[in-house]
Amino acid sequence: MKALVLSGGAGTRLRPITHTSAKQLIPIANKPILFYGLEAIAAAGITDVGIIVGDTHEEIEEALGDGSRFGIKATYIRQDAPLGLAHAVKIAEDFMAGEPFLMYLGDNLIKEDLGQLVSEFESSGASSLILLAHVPNPSAFGVAELNEDGTVKRLVEKPKEPPSDLALVGVYLFDSSIFEAVKSIEPSWRNELEITDAIQYLLEHGCEVRHHVIKEWWKDTGKLEDLLEANRIVLEGIERRIEGEVCENSRVDGSVVIEKGARLVDSTVRGPAIIGRDAVISHSYVGPFTSISFGVTIENSEIEHSIVCENTVIRDVKRIEESLIGKGVQIVRSTSRPAAHRIMVGDSSRIEIL
Ligand code: TTP
Repeated sequence: MKALVLSGGAGTRLRPITHTSAKQLIPIANKPILFYGLEAIAAAGITDVGIIVGDTHEEIEEALGDGSRFGIKATYIRQDAPLGLAHAVKIAEDFMAGEPFLMYLGDNLIKEDLGQLVSEFESSGASSLILLAHVPNPSAFGVAELNEDGTVKRLVEKPKEPPSDLALVGVYLFDSSIFEAVKSIEPSWRNELEITDAIQYLLEHGCEVRHHVIKEWWKDTGKLEDLLEANRIVLEGIERRIEGEVCENSRVDGSVVIEKGARLVDSTVRGPAIIGRDAVISHSYVGPFTSISFGVTIENSEIEHSIVCENTVIRDVKRIEESLIGKGVQIVRSTSRPAAHRIMVGDSSRIEIL
């Protein structure tokens, strides 16, 4: 059993962050999203992992290296353009060399035990095992329709009138019959080879497609709200650990991680929250569900339910909520005249001001 991890893509819904960085490396509780997936794959006993990379290949390769830190052997497979999930499968055929594989979308987080899914698939003899989750908004996903006996009848991509509330989760198991499927289907209206079409092809050509409805949580972090939600869920599970310095007049309430070299001066951190290595929080309040990465400075400000990436400075800002702030950003109050907002931001940014 091998694995295929998809870490290419365009990431249009997370611009401007994805203009300069890979979305799979955005930190959730100060750890890149992609690392959670690779750890889960390694824990399932899979060591031979193909990683699909696109324009952000250098950054991904630098972050993962040869994979040994996760206990895997990483092989990078370059996708020239984000032509779809099924296209990523197509270009991985040589790497798979006839072995079955687990496919994992690099921007997804899943709590389910992958090892158990692998065993379920291996003992089933089916061509594919798909994971499904009940969701309140199925129109935003690939949706499965089941037969009365519980077998998969049909898959449809983002249907206007969904036949069920069962969305396709970003983890799939396939044997090599998927390669005929991805080579036979045509690109969709958005010019992508869709994995739903490939699985539908399997169904129409007599291949057995099993499904597993997940019991634990799962998050596709393709959009800001989902990223913040994933950050909230992961932070809810952290245990209190104070390795940095909590100076006088500072308070740390609840499940909070203060990493080495971080300093709290005259500030309150209310968990669940994480303050990264060498961050300095002074005269500030950091509220629940907030991840502050390494080297960040927060001075005389309040922030809650947000993700702040490395080396950013936030100074004299009354309150920030539900925000994703990239690396090396400066958000500061100006005292110069004329009093005005002075802004330099990248394309497709969003700023809400009071
Ligand atoms: P998506 O989130 O479906 O696509 P995207 O990354 O292009 O994002 P957006 O829709 O906002 O433009 O991709 C799911 C995962 O699969 C993600 O980790 C990127 C990866 N991917 C590839 O590696 N190759 C591809 O061709 C596509 C479409 C996605």
